[in-house]
Amino acid sequence: MKMLIRYTSLIALGATYGVMVLGSYVSATGLGLSCPDWPLCRGNILPTEEIIIEWTHRFFGLLVATFTVTTSVLALRTNDKKLKIITSLAVMFVFIQITLGAIVIGTRLQPEIVAMHLAVALAVFTTVLLSMLRVRNYAKSIEV
Ligand code: HEM
Repeated sequence: MKMLIRYTSLIALGATYGVMVLGSYVSATGLGLSCPDWPLCRGNILPTEEIIIEWTHRFFGLLVATFTVTTSVLALRTNDKKLKIITSLAVMFVFIQITLGAIVIGTRLQPEIVAMHLAVALAVFTTVLLSMLRVRNYAKSIEV
């Protein structure tokens, strides 16, 4: 379990970094509405060439959700209260962010909502990074 949480927290951080870089690319290339619907992309689950960038951004969002939730569930099995709190906060920000992503689409890229999407992305990154660092400390403390 100790090893597993190290991996899940690290993968969550990598996926968060990836989804943010992809998001800025989506924004800069004006591809935000290449998937005009949500949760599907033009009614499809799998991507086509025209929607691959936005689809991959969303797919990375799904990866972030999967690995932050798994890290948080594994954290519940430790006796580190701060780890439980920070991983729960990360999960909360991720779900707010996914909801905001849907609102970004629903409001057809309203600038204020896109700005909020960026602001919450920073909260996601910070809490996921702190979770990973706390996991490392916790693992070290019980190795002795
Ligand atoms: C953990 C999940 C996510 C993170 C961390 C994230 C992060 C970001 C970031 C950093 C940007 C660039 C914003 C900017 O340059 O101002 C962005 C853009 C965008 N995101 Fe996400 N995102 C996530 C999930 C989603 C989801 C699930 C959707 C759709 C349902 C979505 C839809 C969009 C769209 C459409 C844009 C482009 C907005 C534009 O064209 O200006 N995002 N995202």
